[in-house]
Amino acid sequence: MMDQIKIGKFKVNEIYQGDSLKLMKEIPDESIDLLVTDPPFAIDFRAKRNNYNRTPENVLEGYNEIPQEKYYEFTLNWIKQSYRILKQTGSMYVVSGWTNLKDILNALDETRFITVNHIIWKYQFGVFTRKKYVTSHYHILFVVKHVKKYKFNKIEHYPEDVWVIKREYWTGKKKTATKLPMELVKKIILFSSDKDDIVFDPFLGSGTVAATAKTLGRNYLGFEIVKDYFTFAKERISSVQMSLDKWVDKAKKSKETD
Ligand SMILES: C[S@@+](CC[C@H](N)C(=O)[O-])C[C@H]1O[C@@H](n2cnc3c(N)ncnc32)[C@H](O)[C@@H]1O
Repeated sequence: MMDQIKIGKFKVNEIYQGDSLKLMKEIPDESIDLLVTDPPFAIDFRAKRNNYNRTPENVLEGYNEIPQEKYYEFTLNWIKQSYRILKQTGSMYVVSGWTNLKDILNALDETRFITVNHIIWKYQFGVFTRKKYVTSHYHILFVVKHVKKYKFNKIEHYPEDVWVIKREYWTGKKKTATKLPMELVKKIILFSSDKDDIVFDPFLGSGTVAATAKTLGRNYLGFEIVKDYFTFAKERISSVQMSLDKWVDKAKKSKETD
């Protein structure tokens, strides 16, 4: 049997429920290859459960938001930890809306992260506005520790910094208040990590980063503070495992019959 990989007290290919500000302190220095995250934005999503044409009872409650006045302190805290735990060859991608972007940019500067790209993710958003433009983009900050050592697999010939990727709609299913499309996370993981690397997300939500990492043969680790979200993510990640297992079984069987 293969040895269970551990970083500090954490088993790799596990997720943990708890406060990232505390748990990240227990991750050893320079142990993470790639950090991909979509941190809480200091917007009250609970007040917005029935927004965006969603059936409110399908959206899980309890999403943990950060009060506006504490957002910078919160952001600087987790970004400092991220810098410490990333390997010299590592990279971090932070997804942010425009409203609190300044706090994230300032914290990245204060932490000595080097910005490689400021990516725009353009998505479709079918809402009607009367007196303003419809917000249909997010910012993705691609930052590294060491400008010469970071990994970058050039899987596209002309990779551009504007990505047009649709949001996923899980009609009729239980869902969390916000989630990243797997297609977007897949692109990040393929460009910025190799097989068996450790991909970490301190703010898992529905577990998209961990689930995608798993489908791509990467190791994953992640934290989520809200119990219902943690349980949702755990189930989602194990269902990805099941589909992988099925795929492996199928591949084995077809080999046996060759
Ligand atoms: C924007 S969501 C992440 C969405 C995720 N990328 C997805 O695709 O589902 C941010 C998550 O961070 C969680 N969170 C907020 N504060 C936290 C903390 N201190 N520690 C761990 N998780 C936290 C929230 O409950 C929320 O689920």
